[in-house]
Amino acid sequence: KRVAIFISGSGSNMQKLLESMTDDHPARACVVLSNDPKAGGLEIAETAGVPTEVVRHEPFKGDRVAFEHAITGAIAHHAPEIICLAGFMRKLTAGFVDPWRGHMLNIHPSLLPKYRGLHTHARALDAGDTMHGCTVHEVTAALDDGPILGQAEVPVLPDDTEATLAARVLAQEHILYPAVLRRFAAGDRRPIMLR
Ligand code: GRF
Repeated sequence: KRVAIFISGSGSNMQKLLESMTDDHPARACVVLSNDPKAGGLEIAETAGVPTEVVRHEPFKGDRVAFEHAITGAIAHHAPEIICLAGFMRKLTAGFVDPWRGHMLNIHPSLLPKYRGLHTHARALDAGDTMHGCTVHEVTAALDDGPILGQAEVPVLPDDTEATLAARVLAQEHILYPAVLRRFAAGDRRPIMLR
């Protein structure tokens, strides 16, 4: 399976996905796309020999559909069969997501359905949660919704800050996402629950 990975920033999840796609893996990364030309993940992809594409969202001034058409054009010749969102921070409309339904994954730093959206770690701390974690899910037009393909759980410790909790969750993302992609690319949609 040919996999496109979308990033916006450091690309640590992307890096782990790339490293996981060894020769026995049912998937290969065919392109890494970023909406930010300065995303650190682009250099990691180039070093790994994976083609990269940059489609900046600013020139489209909030015209989401035009931005998404540019993305579709940029990835077309790479012929991806699966899209993995990995720290991609732009919302995607139904017009882009629907044709990819069932073939697009995202990793979100909370135990969905809790804490859709942003600032998930601060919200878990504010709520006094004792458990937190991350979720890989199929992407639908509704934000951070869609069938859950995997979850990993971490404890929230009494002296946790947003940064220490985020780091503990990120470490689990780096385990969960590659495990889910390997199973998903083999056509197996059973969830992986590390909790
Ligand atoms: C992480 O917090 C992750 O939970 C979310 O995007 C952030 C950056 O991830 N999906 P990455 O290092 O760019 O993969």
